[in-house]
Amino acid sequence: MPDMKSVLVTGAARGLGLEFCRRYLADGWRVHAACRTPEKATTLMALAAGSPGELHLHRLDVTSARDGAALAGALGESSLDLLINNAGIIGPARPGGEIPDEAAWSEAFRVNCQAPYRLTRLLADALGRAENGLVVFLSSTMGSIGNLAATNAVPYRTSKVALNMAARSLSIEFRDRFGVLIVHPGYVRTDMGGPGATIEAEESVAGLRRLIDGFEPARHGGFFDYQGKALPW
Ligand SMILES: NC(=O)c1ccc[n+]([C@@H]2O[C@H](COP(=O)([O-])OP(=O)(O)OC[C@H]3O[C@@H](n4cnc5c(N)ncnc54)[C@H](OP(=O)(O)O)[C@@H]3O)[C@@H](O)[C@H]2O)c1
Repeated sequence: MPDMKSVLVTGAARGLGLEFCRRYLADGWRVHAACRTPEKATTLMALAAGSPGELHLHRLDVTSARDGAALAGALGESSLDLLINNAGIIGPARPGGEIPDEAAWSEAFRVNCQAPYRLTRLLADALGRAENGLVVFLSSTMGSIGNLAATNAVPYRTSKVALNMAARSLSIEFRDRFGVLIVHPGYVRTDMGGPGATIEAEESVAGLRRLIDGFEPARHGGFFDYQGKALPW
């Protein structure tokens, strides 16, 4: 079906990534769901059965340049309407005052910042082929220097600050080829957010969908929460 819109979601097998896939499948999109172990993505496969959308599962550890290149190759010459850089890790989340484990800090940078930057570049041609290609980066208010209210989880916070800069740079470099949104999904009840979080994934993704569907050039390269409110860097 050539008229089908297409989206690629990283970290697609659980949490916010799974909810993004669920909604786009229900809306009849071609969903490229990228996850580390596609053979175990049983919830995703069950969602796809009977939905009007089309599910394409891809193996992607976002830290693997080889996986990223293989994924870009699998898309071939097709266009990509939407890339959702969703995969992320919290890393060591202890209060400030301790020196975080260095390897774990580096891993937070690799997953949360370097990987989405690389994948976006690898998929830039596919996004540029779409009429209104758009890239969404899942950032966090924990990466907002202007909003800083706590000092825990320094690896995560610093990796999301760096992500904001990487995403903003891409928005300038590729401004003529695709749109960019940097978003905070709210405090969401997923494995990462935990049971004490304030909203469900459904509410978060519904809000983010409004932001995505109503994307306007004035928002290009900006940082917004799931309700559309502009956030300080
Ligand atoms: N939940 C919140 O309150 C909240 C708030 C602000 C921002 N965010 C951001 O929103 C995004 C999604 O968060 P979430 O709450 O859905 O988290 P989650 O429930 O912990 O899910 C994280 C997802 O990232 C994937 N992932 C982690 N490392 C990966 C790697 N190396 N390669 C490929 N996939 C990898 C996981 O895949 P596996 O299943 O293979 O582990 C999983 O699908 C993250 O970027 C997070 O920082 C969340």
